[in-house]
Amino acid sequence: MTQDELKQAVARAAIDYVVDGEIIGVGTGSTANFFIDELAKIKDRIKGTVASSEATAARLRGHGIPVFDLNDVESMAVYIDGADEINAQGAMIKGGGAALTREKIVASVSKKFVCIADGSKLVDTLGKFPLPVEVIPMARAVVMRKLAALGGQPKLRLKPGTDQPFITDNGGELIDVAGLSITDPVALEEEINQITGVIAVGLFAKAGANVCLLGTAEGVKTLSL
Ligand code: 5RP
Repeated sequence: MTQDELKQAVARAAIDYVVDGEIIGVGTGSTANFFIDELAKIKDRIKGTVASSEATAARLRGHGIPVFDLNDVESMAVYIDGADEINAQGAMIKGGGAALTREKIVASVSKKFVCIADGSKLVDTLGKFPLPVEVIPMARAVVMRKLAALGGQPKLRLKPGTDQPFITDNGGELIDVAGLSITDPVALEEEINQITGVIAVGLFAKAGANVCLLGTAEGVKTLSL
């Protein structure tokens, strides 16, 4: 099976976690896109969605699925999203698709986080995938120095094909931190959150996934975390 087929399989399986009549939190990325396409098939069963990025909102609306402003939604039963890495405890690295801040916000309003990922995303120790950190642009250099002091190799994410910083939906910039071996994800998340100028860190450990649907050659495996 290709990686896309595995992503499609978990996207299909995630439909079982959609609660009828409710508003669903929807993530960002290629796996989330497959989920949106599956959700479109049952869109009459839900009230609508809250999107974690402009790209996700556009794809949802393209399917005729209502997208609510989070300010008008008090709580959601479920948030469904991919991950760049996940460990056996449900801690994740996210933000490869640049949406980490809104993903964290939407997830925080949801009772259950269902992570959908192909099997390659399950790791023993987080950190092989460079950890994304969203920053206020004027704080880029000072935050990079502090991230280097934590033992990482910070690199500013650039807009593809240019030497200009990538700008997020929130007007922030992204620093990708390579070379970390994250043995205590909760502690590192707290430490990076304390750095002035950081908008959000792509470590989802204090509030990780509750369920992980993992796409493997043997079928979709469910990890209850
Ligand atoms: C976006 C994310 C994505 O969930 C993560 O990058 C995984 O993406 P994909 O499903 O394309 O592998 O965190 O900010």
